[in-house]
Amino acid sequence: MNSHFIEIVKYDQRKMEREVINLWNECCQFDLITTEKFRQFIIFDENFNNELCLVAIDIDKVVGFIYGYKRQYPYLDKGLESEKGWIASIFVKKEYRHHGIAKRLLENIEQKIKEKGAKTIILGANSPHYFFSGLDIDNYPEATSFFEKNGYNSFEKHYSMGMNLHFFDLSEKSKERKKNFEDFGFQFKVFDYSYSLELLEFLKTEFGGGWKYNALEAMRKSKAHERIMIVLAPNGTICGCANRAIDDNEMRFGPIGISKKVRNLRIGTVLLECSMLEMRKRGIYRMFFMTTDENGRRYYERVGLKVIRTYYSYKKDL
Ligand SMILES: CC(C)(COP(=O)(O)OP(=O)(O)OC[C@H]1O[C@@H](n2cnc3c(N)ncnc32)[C@H](O)[C@@H]1OP(=O)(O)O)[C@@H](O)C(=O)NCCC(=O)NCCS
Repeated sequence: MNSHFIEIVKYDQRKMEREVINLWNECCQFDLITTEKFRQFIIFDENFNNELCLVAIDIDKVVGFIYGYKRQYPYLDKGLESEKGWIASIFVKKEYRHHGIAKRLLENIEQKIKEKGAKTIILGANSPHYFFSGLDIDNYPEATSFFEKNGYNSFEKHYSMGMNLHFFDLSEKSKERKKNFEDFGFQFKVFDYSYSLELLEFLKTEFGGGWKYNALEAMRKSKAHERIMIVLAPNGTICGCANRAIDDNEMRFGPIGISKKVRNLRIGTVLLECSMLEMRKRGIYRMFFMTTDENGRRYYERVGLKVIRTYYSYKKDL
């Protein structure tokens, strides 16, 4: 193989979709994908831009792929984030590695993202629909050294965690705490729609537009009563909320949040355990979430979740 004959061209859905997805599954074995998911996450994203979705071709065979991301439309209260761009995915067929193909793909996209005004490029975590929340250095060591050689620096460590719920029940400690909170006037409740407006306002004020949007989507789909639990303070107002299935994967937990006014009292732990029990009652016997930091890790470990994958956030200033 002579790498000089490898052409870099724009992704062409009708010609390349099948081959790109097959190669994705060959190269990214810890993040398998279906055609439907590929379309949902990439093609149907309003920010999809064909200029930033490129394919490396050897004569007529797909041997590499890159998908870069730059907002063209404001995303809730984050807006356009015009100084940021993202590399959402990159892979090269095994037999074609170490011939500079990934570097050509990357430099091509970096240049275009820079021309569009970005000052920083981040790996993964392109809200709201990302595949990778950062670099998984245990499972993709080659990708890590590739990005480090190309000027990307790690700045944060975070975790994806999960747990089986087959035999889950509230711990004795949480049962006792729940009773004490309830005696004090708190209530842990499955969401009902009479709290819709109050919940949306609470989430926007305490946690930002993304949290509000996730709850709104559950309400629009008439799923909020199945997926959301709330905590009411003694004065009857909402002071906590746990959501799940924000991408319609019933096992995906989060986000969960407690009002700043009543944090670190273990209300969050009781709400978490009540939500886990509710999942079990519904026959959802496995839970996982995509990412949390060191504080969050301690919080979830205390109720039995284990780290599944460790991610590092990486970025490069242009
Ligand atoms: C995480 C959170 C729901 C916990 O609620 P809480 O009622 O304070 O929880 P508890 O009192 O039961 O437990 C406190 C634990 O939360 C964790 N925690 C504290 N601050 C946190 C934060 N900003 N982010 C994540 N976890 C945090 C810590 O493990 C802490 O225990 P520690 O005593 O070991 O430090 C609450 O801190 C919160 O709303 N944070 C902001 C939203 C968030 O990051 N949610 C988690 C990711 S979806």
